[in-house]
Formats: sequence, structure tokens, C-alpha cells
Amino acid sequence: MQKNNEISAVITGVGMYVPDKVLDNKYFESIVDTNDEWIRTRTGIVERRIIEDGATSDLGTRAVQDLLKSTNTDPEDIDIIIVATVTPDMFFPATACLIQDNIGAKNAWGFDFSAACSGFLFALENGANFIKSGKYKKVVVVGADKMSSIIDYTDRNTCILFGDASSAVLLEPSDDPSLGVKESILHIDGSGRNDLYMKAGGSAKPASHKTVDNGEHYIYQDGKAVFKVAVKGMADVSAEVMKKCGLNSDDIAYLVPHQANLRIIDATAKRMGISPDKVTINIQKYGNTTAATIPLCLTEYYRDRKIKKGDNLILAAFGGGYTWGAMHLVWGID
Ligand code: UT7
Repeated sequence: MQKNNEISAVITGVGMYVPDKVLDNKYFESIVDTNDEWIRTRTGIVERRIIEDGATSDLGTRAVQDLLKSTNTDPEDIDIIIVATVTPDMFFPATACLIQDNIGAKNAWGFDFSAACSGFLFALENGANFIKSGKYKKVVVVGADKMSSIIDYTDRNTCILFGDASSAVLLEPSDDPSLGVKESILHIDGSGRNDLYMKAGGSAKPASHKTVDNGEHYIYQDGKAVFKVAVKGMADVSAEVMKKCGLNSDDIAYLVPHQANLRIIDATAKRMGISPDKVTINIQKYGNTTAATIPLCLTEYYRDRKIKKGDNLILAAFGGGYTWGAMHLVWGID
């Protein structure tokens, strides 16, 4: 629990970017053996966005530009840029460097953070700790993924699920102990590494003609295996965080879950005793945008005036690795 003299790390601004191009379920009917009904009922997805010209750094840059504009922040005042992504522009330099240069954040340092669909949550915990240390005043945490760059559009198991997007938050210190990032419980378990991953292209299996011919540079997922552990993982860890913070379901304004599958979201909320009207959902519009899902929900629900200052939020995610966790966040923007 936070002591009175500790610095709070508060989200003081949000930003987002989704590409214009929409791929609806009908489009997928024309390229693989699927149908709108199956996709809607099994996943909750109706459409997703795809960037036609640009990389993850372009998605991230636009989200941060939106954040800077809406908070009237000078990019030169940013101390740290943390980018959660599994689709960096390249192995190195980090996508954080590219976004830093694009926005003119001349005084920042930063890094990329790899935790798949839990990436934003893990990065937010990290960013908050930099603020709580007292050394840094403005930390930008970005969730950005160009999932279309690692999707096999002939594989109906995965191609219908994912979209491209980015969203970013600004963390700043506050002496109000009631606001900001509170408790979080985060986990990794590498024994699940073969259920959701990219088989080749890294140091274990460098890219070759053979790996490309085999389609091993695309995302692979055993959906059924991930589904089971995702519901239990997110619900259990969220309940643990609530218990640690002395919160019951009536105290929660919103559960803000990773958007991978509406059935996973519904089952998680049910296990937690959270009613459906207290769950942020935008999967129908964007699909699974990996590191961007949670900040996109925060941004849209805040801008729609649904999330308000002082609201208790539980952020929860599950993803490849495995990685998972939950966080109690008290909203700090009027
Ligand atoms: O974000 C990171 C974490 N990821 C997740 O949390 C995702 C977890 N998993 C899921 O969301 C679901 O498992 C999926 C949406 C991926 C799949 O749904 P499912 O209900 O688990 O389907 P399934 O994989 O068990 O497949 C059932 C059937 C299969 O046909 P057979 O073998 O029963 O004949 C699939 O081939 O559905 C078939 N199928 C499809 N049919 C129409 C799979 N994809 C499609 C499709 N259209 N796009």
C-alpha cells in the first residue's frame, strides 16, 4: 500500500491512432474459408484497421502526437519513452528511438518492451516506477503494433483476429496519494512459449529461404490452449489485486481487459463478479491490436466521458510468453 509521503504516478494524458483502412468480416469471406457469423460469435470482432503505408513507429508517432497535442506538452520535456510492441520496425534500433526522433523529444531516453499482449501493462508498471523514483517527471508509455506485418492472410485461424493500432499515455508525478497506479501483480511463464509465438526470424532460427517458404515468420497460435489459461489467468490475478487493495466489485468503475476475444472478456468479468456494463469493450471495431488494446480502451472511454477522475479501474491482460497480470489504477484526469 502507498504511504502518504510517496509520489503517485498518475496518467495525465492519453492519445491514440488507428489507420483509416478497414477490413470487415465480409472481406475475410473473400480470402479464406470463414464467415461473418463465425467471426462475430466466436470472437466478437466486426472489423479491424490496417496501416497501408508505414510501420509500428508511424502508428506510435501519431498516437504520441495526439497525446502531446491534447495535453499541450512540449516534446523536449519528455524524460522517457517506453514502447510496448511485438512488431518493432526492426530488431534494432528500438522503435522508441524512431518515435523519439519523429516527435523531436530531444531530451528523452527510452526503450522497447516485449511482453506481447501484456506489453502495455508491464510497460505502465515500469513507467510508473520511474515516476515514483522521483527522478523523472514525464514518462510516455506507448502500446503500438502493426500486427498485419506478421499475419498470414491465408490462415483463417489467425488472420481474422488481429489489427493495427497505437495508443499512448503520459505519466506524471502527483502528491495526491489517492490517484494513479496502485497495486499490480504481473507474471511470466515461459512454459507456454510454444502456444503463441513466431517460429523463426530470431536468433534461435534466423530467417532463411526455408523459414520464409514454411511461413515461420508469421504468428502461430494454438487458440484453444491460450483461451483456457487466459480466462483463468486474468480473472485470478485481477481478483488478487482487488483483494490486496481492499476493493470489491461494487468499488470498480471499469474492468479494462486486453481485447483478444469477447468470450474471454465476458468469462473473465463473470468470474470476477463484474457486471457487463462495467467492462470496456472495443474489440468489435479494432480486433486484437496486441499492446495497443488497453490504452485504446482507456483513451476512448475517457474521451467518451465514461471514465472519470477518481474511478477505480482494474487493467488486466494475458498474452504470449505466457505473460499476464492485473493492475489497480485510479483515474487522474478531469
Ligand atoms: O491476445 C493474446 C492471447 N490470445 C488469445 O487470448 C486468443 C485465445 N483464443 C481464442 O480467442 C480462440 O481460441 C479463437 C478465436 C482463436 C478460436 O476460437 P475457438 O472457438 O477456440 O475455435 P477452435 O480453434 O476450437 O476451432 C473450432 C473450429 C475448427 O474447425 P474444426 O476443426 O472443428 O472443423 C476451426 O478450424 O473452427 C474452425 N475455425 C474457423 N472457422 C471459420 C477456425 N478459425 C475459423 C474461422 N472461420 N476464421
